Amino acid sequence: MKRGCRSCRVVGSAISPADVAIPLLEDISGKWKVLVFVLAYAKDEEEKQRLFMARSATLFVCQSCGSSHNKWAGKCEGCGEWNTIVEETPAERPPQGLGRVRGRVIEFAQMSGTSAVQPRRKTGIEEFDRVTGGGLVEGSAILIGGDPGIGKSTILLQAVARLSGEAKCAYISGEESVDQMRMRARRLGFAEAMVSLASATCVRDIISTLEKEKFDVAVIDSIQTMYIDNLDSAPGTVAQVRASAQELIRAAKRRGTCLLIVGHVTKDGQIAGPRVLEHMVDTVLYFEGDRGHTFRILRTVKNRFGPTDEIGVFEMGETGLQEVKNPSELFLSQRQHEVSGSAVFAGMEGTRPVLVEIQALVAPSSLGMPRRAVIGWDSARLAMVLAVLEARCDVQIGSNDVYLNVAGGLRITEPAADLAVAAALASSLSGVPVPSDMVIFGEIGLSGEIRNVGQLDTRLKETSKLGFKHAMIPAHPKTKDKKEGLRLTQIQHLKDMLSLFTEDTRP
Ligand code: TYD
Ligand code: MG
Repeated sequence: MKRGCRSCRVVGSAISPADVAIPLLEDISGKWKVLVFVLAYAKDEEEKQRLFMARSATLFVCQSCGSSHNKWAGKCEGCGEWNTIVEETPAERPPQGLGRVRGRVIEFAQMSGTSAVQPRRKTGIEEFDRVTGGGLVEGSAILIGGDPGIGKSTILLQAVARLSGEAKCAYISGEESVDQMRMRARRLGFAEAMVSLASATCVRDIISTLEKEKFDVAVIDSIQTMYIDNLDSAPGTVAQVRASAQELIRAAKRRGTCLLIVGHVTKDGQIAGPRVLEHMVDTVLYFEGDRGHTFRILRTVKNRFGPTDEIGVFEMGETGLQEVKNPSELFLSQRQHEVSGSAVFAGMEGTRPVLVEIQALVAPSSLGMPRRAVIGWDSARLAMVLAVLEARCDVQIGSNDVYLNVAGGLRITEPAADLAVAAALASSLSGVPVPSDMVIFGEIGLSGEIRNVGQLDTRLKETSKLGFKHAMIPAHPKTKDKKEGLRLTQIQHLKDMLSLFTEDTRP
């Protein structure tokens, strides 16, 4: 605090505390304590702002979740990631307040008024159009996230190539050269499509180009490679990603261009960069799927122009992503009949019913703490189902390893899968298969009661369409014993389901 002594001399004169504090704030540690002290003495708002600016000259931002900290740390307090905090210089000044200038009075509109219907551009790829809510809306921004190599560039190139007949399309890549893009287009059978290709990363150049050329649809692949030249941080950092996206979206909205932005995901599956990216765009799509499997699922996470939770199912083949019109058939295609530890669940993905096989393996464990491995479902819900089976139904699983897998790489989030999971577990433990023409669904409560689930009729219709004869569902006084040609077994408690695995009580 030697500098402090120098400042002491000025404090004695009629100079304000800010003049003393600013040089101090710029190069001592523990700035916040000094700042809080001095802010209390600031004579007006403007002086407070100057003080604040001096302090906020540097900022430490987590590259994983985007939270900012006032000092560097090895571990981010926000998301728990290690070595993700990087020093950044904030681009924007802190808000200046409104000052004395008055704004104009806003005019309100009535709810009952009519508005023009948003025109949509359909790509003709039905699965893609479904997740976008029925086609691309003019001036909208769509973010597509997913693991590397999952097929983001492929689906977008296919989409713009299909649209190129009726709309002016551009594909701007910061990851591939024009030659690589041409090669991919040739492989997909779109060598002659009228799509403008460019390899660029400078946002200033891209915006000038978009403004001049007036494209209807533009793809930015990927936002992590784009940079704004008057920011100091490297491409891919939170500050760059946020600023680039903001500028691109603003420019696209001004021109009515539909912007499709590719975003990489971090290892825990979130779109890299701040979550604000998800707030800035109108639609967020996630590409899911295992690279070991050929099918891919495009899921709507947010959509300002349509329903969320819709999925589009594709299969990656020699000529790009092919649509899968009936996913249930695909997910059940490799099912083995009459094996224990397998149950078929009738789930809903958005507005569409999807039948999937749930596989469980309960095996004796050699570990002190048995393993619980889950793929495609929530591990906390598995723990709950296991606890209910043990506590309410006397099924002893505790000392066994438990493996649970949703076959085909689909991720299920519905609680309605509880009962099918419990059936697969009980079947594996007892070695008795679930009847192969039976579909199971229902939510399990903590006391072991089976709760009702939504869209019963849609689930049953799909079940019947795929040739199943029998369904185990939650009991409801209004549901009949037969529906859609299916025999319905209605149960009230988890114990009733276990009768499937004792020979003399099998339905
Ligand atoms: P890509 O779209 O480049 O992935 P992303 O942009 O999400 O990183 O997909 C690349 C993968 O898809 C790669 O592993 C090769 C495979 N692929 C095919 O199997 N068939 C095809 O016709 C194409 C174009 C790609
Ligand atoms: Mg790519």
